[in-house]
Amino acid sequence: MYKVLFAASEVHPLIKTGGLGDVAGILPTALFKLGWDVGVILPAYPNCKQQLKNLVQVTSLSIPSVTTPVIILKGELPGVPVTFWLVDSPRHFNRPGNPYIGENGQEWPDNADRFATFCKAIVHGFVTYPNLDWKPDVIHCNDWHTGLIPPLLDSVANRPVTMFTIHNLSYQGVFPYATFQELQLPNHLWLSSALAFHNQLSFMKGGLIFSDWLTTVSPSYAKEIMTPELGCGLDDILRQRFKNLTGILNGADYDRWDPVQDSLIEKPYNKESWYDKVKNKLALQRQFHLPENKKIPMFGFIGRLVTQKGIDLIIKILPKIISEQIQIIFLGEGEEYYQSCLETLARKYPEKIGLSLGYSETLAHSIQAGVDIFLMPSYFEPCGLTQIYALRYGTIPIVHKVGGLADTIIDATPENLDRELATGFIFNNPTSSELLHAIERCLHLYAQPYLWQKLILTGMAQDFNWKNSAKRYLELYYKLLQSRSTIE
Ligand code: ADP
Ligand code: GLC
Repeated sequence: MYKVLFAASEVHPLIKTGGLGDVAGILPTALFKLGWDVGVILPAYPNCKQQLKNLVQVTSLSIPSVTTPVIILKGELPGVPVTFWLVDSPRHFNRPGNPYIGENGQEWPDNADRFATFCKAIVHGFVTYPNLDWKPDVIHCNDWHTGLIPPLLDSVANRPVTMFTIHNLSYQGVFPYATFQELQLPNHLWLSSALAFHNQLSFMKGGLIFSDWLTTVSPSYAKEIMTPELGCGLDDILRQRFKNLTGILNGADYDRWDPVQDSLIEKPYNKESWYDKVKNKLALQRQFHLPENKKIPMFGFIGRLVTQKGIDLIIKILPKIISEQIQIIFLGEGEEYYQSCLETLARKYPEKIGLSLGYSETLAHSIQAGVDIFLMPSYFEPCGLTQIYALRYGTIPIVHKVGGLADTIIDATPENLDRELATGFIFNNPTSSELLHAIERCLHLYAQPYLWQKLILTGMAQDFNWKNSAKRYLELYYKLLQSRSTIE
């Protein structure tokens, strides 16, 4: 049986800040169900050590450049069929809360050392000094935190094949040259054809250049990152690798994100009982002390409060849309500036705006179930999961036509409505006026219950099952393993 080690910096339900956690929480299980032996490895944050069962130390590594021993732990998560591995280096990972930033809202100053240690431990523990009796055929890396794995493995004999998935190209793990020296990375990696990026160290480049295959999380984003507009300075490298770059759309974990079996919402419902959705709306209005009214169109936003998500576009038009009979709920955390703009607006319009700053898995579910319309005007969106979840909850997404948003939502044009294809509202350019226009189109349809119901039911019938995406990953793993065996 082939083995894959899936390496990520966050994995739901152990630790999560966004969609990467969702993907790493379910894709490994989908691969397992297709017959692979799957291990998941992540740093030993306190949350992970608390939640995993039967944790045992399997090896202690002494890694040059890391002054203290690094332990590999192995454990289980009840109900999840894959094996969990943790890289335990307390001085790097024994910190509660967000995995990347401290309580002051700033990135941990030693993030380069933390994630380099994570990568080195994986390479040493599983490949170069195989202290463990479980040797992966494939190492599947995710985002910059795992970017040093492919370059560190590159010249190792009989190494596993490597896959690197880009979840978000804009977070690259770039650090000064001095960090490259402190981390004692091999000198030959200091080249612009390796880790050097404008005279700085780039973890992301390591993944992009040295992995055997690259994937990203939607077909449209795969094309977009090869352009200067969305390539974040790395588009030339991606263009060079276009033959080994595949866009595979993320799926949804419908065991967690389906209103018919969601224990976190007020009233379960499905396509047959979709009208029960309104009970969730009333509960949400109550929770946020907004007037309880079934008819009033209710908007929602759930996401990291960062520029990527187009939150500024919403803030700009909020005073205008709020003059209509509407309500809107925000759930998010992130940049101070956006938080304070939203606080000011929520204070000004307490009867119309519900605001929750922070992270709440429960509230994310209640909002998906309660609101009528989901706003996602992201400037760029590698895939986006919240709009996919919204569809299953009969919540109509309004999205910018970009990345995974363009690949998952079908615009409610009259023709698409007629053919029962339409699932949401799409606008072409990320401007507040285009967003406003899309909102107006949406409210126009909301006022026509027959058409609105059709839109809801088409959305609820969409199926973004993980199985299909997992099969695509497996095809690529097999292809890589096959080409390796031909070389050998
Ligand atoms: P991204 O990965 O860019 O943050 P996605 O749409 O792929 O965007 O995934 C976001 C995930 O994080 C979803 O599961 C969403 O429900 C969750 N999420 C984002 N912000 C919050 C929050 N403040 N509280 C709870 N869940 C959140
Ligand atoms: C990233 C992207 C998001 C994607 C998620 C999971 O955080 O911003 O679009 O859905 O990763 O792949």
